[in-house]
Amino acid sequence: AGTLGAQAAQSGRYFGTAVAAGRLSDGTYTSILDREFNSVTPENEMKWDATERSRGQFTFGAADQIVNRAAARGQRVRGHTLVWHSQLPGWVSSIRDANTLRGVMNNHITTVMNRYKGRIHSWDVVNEAFADGGSGQLRGSVFRDVLGNGFLEQAFRTARTADPAAKLCYNDYNIEDWNAAKTQGVYRMVRDFKARGVPIDCVGLQAHFGAGGPPASFQTTLSNFAALGVDVQITELDIAQAPPNAYANTVRACMNVARCTGITVWGIRDSDSWRASENPLLFDRGGNKKPAYNAVLTTLGGT
Ligand code: G3I
Repeated sequence: AGTLGAQAAQSGRYFGTAVAAGRLSDGTYTSILDREFNSVTPENEMKWDATERSRGQFTFGAADQIVNRAAARGQRVRGHTLVWHSQLPGWVSSIRDANTLRGVMNNHITTVMNRYKGRIHSWDVVNEAFADGGSGQLRGSVFRDVLGNGFLEQAFRTARTADPAAKLCYNDYNIEDWNAAKTQGVYRMVRDFKARGVPIDCVGLQAHFGAGGPPASFQTTLSNFAALGVDVQITELDIAQAPPNAYANTVRACMNVARCTGITVWGIRDSDSWRASENPLLFDRGGNKKPAYNAVLTTLGGT
């Protein structure tokens, strides 16, 4: 097949991109989007500061635009994200009462998931909850500090009730290296959830890489998570300077793990990227395919 989405589909996987509502009027952008990708992730439009800026006042205009556009074209949608310490309105981060915060969190999850019920293949229920560095513990956040470590379990249980058909993912960065303490912390949490029957279906590995690409242990990490009984997904892939080999190594690791069900790159053209100065994506500023594009397409073909 001649496109990323069609080639990935031959092995039962999806190939997606982050999409920004503000770029949907750009014809170069949308023509690449519709030609190459069969899954989309709203880059910012489903985050808490976009969907519930004031308590109980939900706004879905930009997210609706992305979801409706994707549905009309047969593209699948990843939901990103329900519970995250960042892009969180001040009215949430200043709550100090546990019952209040629990109610607010559950209401947010339920309301946003209900809006898109049946139309999201996978939800990042909790994003980036683990600390960087060597602790392997949760990072400080209003959720952890007020609700305790149990906020993750609470969030996943609420999410399962809200949309039982969606795959529920834990999503994070710097969990690609099997030897990293952060990876081990997430692994212990997923193992514990599976052992106790807390609903979790997938782990999203963001894969924001430097020019060297994935760590040598990346495929091991994917298969070790998968062995716990969850899918794994590469959810926000971009690589500094986009070396073709670095992209190929990333895609190959996914292809080699049966439960690696899809790959999402975090933007279309270099100019669309949150790290634009590093030119980390598959298309240049003019919308032309870069060498990394060909490396990805070839590797999706299993070579
Ligand atoms: O929409 C406002 C606009 O009204 C305002 O004028 C402008 C001024 O700065 O800001 C605009 O919001 C920006 C938003 O992107 C939309 O462009 C925010 O400042 C900016 O912080 C925000 O950045 C996003 C970032 O998450 C925020 O943490 C990036 O686009 C987005 O790519 C990035 O994505 C994250 C994932 O969600 C989670 N994993 C890491 C990844 C990269 O940071």
